[in-house]
Formats: sequence, structure tokens, C-alpha cells
Amino acid sequence: MKTEIVQMRENHPDPERIEEAGRILKSGGLVAFPTETVYGLGGDALNPEASRKIYAAKGRPSDNPLIVHICKMEDLKEVAQDVPVEALKLADRYWPGPLTMILKRTDKVPLETTGGLETVAVRFPSHPVARALIEAAGGFVAAPSANTSGRPSPTRAEHVIDDLSGRIEMIIDSGPVNIGLESTIVDFTEDLPVILRPGFLNLQMLKEVLGEVRMDQGLIIQDPTVHPKAPGMKYRHYAPKAELLIVKGEAKAVQSRIRSLADEKLREGLRVGILCAEESRKAYPAGDVRVVGKRSDDRTIAQHLFEILRAFDDDGVDIIFSEAFDEGAMSGAIMNRLTKAAGHHILREVDETTN
Ligand code: TXA
Ligand code: MG
Repeated sequence: MKTEIVQMRENHPDPERIEEAGRILKSGGLVAFPTETVYGLGGDALNPEASRKIYAAKGRPSDNPLIVHICKMEDLKEVAQDVPVEALKLADRYWPGPLTMILKRTDKVPLETTGGLETVAVRFPSHPVARALIEAAGGFVAAPSANTSGRPSPTRAEHVIDDLSGRIEMIIDSGPVNIGLESTIVDFTEDLPVILRPGFLNLQMLKEVLGEVRMDQGLIIQDPTVHPKAPGMKYRHYAPKAELLIVKGEAKAVQSRIRSLADEKLREGLRVGILCAEESRKAYPAGDVRVVGKRSDDRTIAQHLFEILRAFDDDGVDIIFSEAFDEGAMSGAIMNRLTKAAGHHILREVDETTN
């Protein structure tokens, strides 16, 4: 299949091209498009055949449900029922935006889209191109991140082209996304709201609206028998081809440990990648050093994390040592993705011993 690439400025969705993309979706085809978080791979959420195509194009297990994207608040009741008042409060505050809510599904949403679950994930994105496209497609677009299953989520159209070119009808290119990490997922089907995936909206921001909120135990406890509730969070994910090790602790100790680990591997003749913050760039004289962003503004780290993980693949490094980024407002989301990319391979440089 030939994939058509369409350029579109974020704030100027081109009505004719959007119409064309909408027609593709209505007829069961797939279109990748930008959102404020990451690029999505869209199909008609109400068409089981389109959902099957999404799983096939991504190489994704079909028990991993898709998010249904809407573009109007009144469309929520079409796909979700018994919506609790807390969910409406949260939507009122953060929709359109980087928030996905898990609710009870209506019969309108096929089980192919929900991975066989009686619940549905719903999101109302803020990106103007995404909103125009959803509208043109009839209002309900199923969209996982537009990457091959297992790879880092795409934050630029080039990443989508690398992963999905030839497998889908169209890719809309609106340049780099704004946030860079996928939406925060909050589950409203339990007694208390539960965060299933951290994102730009952090625990504090959710608590301000909801009062009590829990973190999914499967995200916190490093025990292979405790599974995260979002099916997608249990898979190995975001992983670069090279082995990735995170070094955690006090800044100077981390830098010196990464230097010595890198020297050791370089002496063995390996290509070594180092993932660090702008502030510590000068601490690393050797290796393929890549700056992900600034600690002083950790939104820049979130924005570039997936791009940098992909860049290490292109460099062909054998092993990557990364600093930890566990102090800012987005640290929960950043460390969730980085830790998964590292397969939970973390070295604590400053021993947090209790004795
Ligand atoms: O920012 C985002 O959310 C992006 C953009 C494109 O909107 N989408 C995205 O979709 O990240 P995806 O498919 O890559 O991740 C969706 C996550 C998966 O971990 C999936 O298991 C979980 O949401 N999920 C979907 N429906 C669910 C449900 N009914 N119950 C629990 N988890 C669900
Ligand atoms: Mg994904």
C-alpha cells in the first residue's frame, strides 16, 4: 500500500485534506495523526474491522484495548454509560487535553476496540488537527500510539513513517508534538479513581479535582505477580535495541558512576550511549552523549525522551547509561517510561540503606 504523507500546520487544519482523511476512516482505512501527547494511529472506533487493522498494522496483541477519541463532550454518552460525577468533574477541568478515562462501555463500542473488555478508554484531545479529523471521521476514532508495538511512541511524523509506512493509507504531519508522553489514564470503574498510567497530568493535579486518587499497585510494586490494570502497561515497551541501564542517586555520584561504567565498556570496544540532562552534559567526555532536556524544565525531558531512545537505535550503540529524572512535576511519567524502556534495570548509586 502506498502511504500518503500530508503536511498540515497545527493551528490550520486544511479542510480538504481533513475531508479526505475523514473519508478514509469512514471507509475502514487507517490514518496516523498528531495529538498533543504523541502521534496516534486512527481507525473508526465503531468499526470492528478497522480495529482489527490497527492491531495488525502495529503488530499489537489484540487483548490490549484501544482509546476511543472524541471531539465533543456530548459524544461521551454515546460510548460510555453510568459516568460518575467525579469523571465529569475531571473532564470539565482537563478536556480537551492529555487525559484518558476508563468508563463502562455502551453497546455501540465493539469488543474488538476494547480488547474484549466491558470498559472503554475515552479521550478528548486538544490538538486542532486531531479534533478536525475526529469530526470529519464521524466523531469516534480509535487510536493507539502510532508506533510498531514495543517501540517508543512517535513524537514526530518521521517516527510514524519509520514504523508504519506502507501499512496505512495516510500520515498527517504537523511537526513535533507538544507533550511527548502519552495521556494520563484514570480508571473510574473502581470504588476510587485509580491512575493506570502517569502522564502530563500528575497525581497532585488530579487530587486537586478528585480529592482521593490511588496509583495502580501494578505500577508501583516491582513484583512480577502484581500486574498493572491497563493491559498495555504489562508489555515490555519503549525499549531501544541496546541494553539500557539507569543510574539513580545524588548528581555527582551518578555522573562519576556513569563515567566509569562507560569507560569500562569503551575499553571492551563497545559503542556506548549516554542519556543525560543539559545541566550535566559536560560531565561526560566520552561516548555518544545525547542531551534529552533540562532538569530546570522537565517538560523538555518529556518532550524528547522517546525521540532520543529512537536516536540511540539509529546510532547503533551497544549499551546506554542514563541518568534518572526523578525530581520535577513530570518525573512520575518520565521515570515510568524510562524504567520500562530499561526493563527495570536500575542501579542505585547512593545506597538508600536503612541500617
Ligand atoms: O496519549 C495517548 O493516550 C495516545 C494518543 C494517540 O491519544 N494514545 C495511546 O494509546 O497512548 P495506546 O494504545 O498506546 O495506550 C493505551 C493504553 C494501553 O496501555 C491500554 O492497555 C490502556 O490504555 N487501555 C485502553 N483501554 C483500557 C481499558 N478499557 N481498561 C484499562 N486499560 C485500558
Ligand atoms: Mg502505545
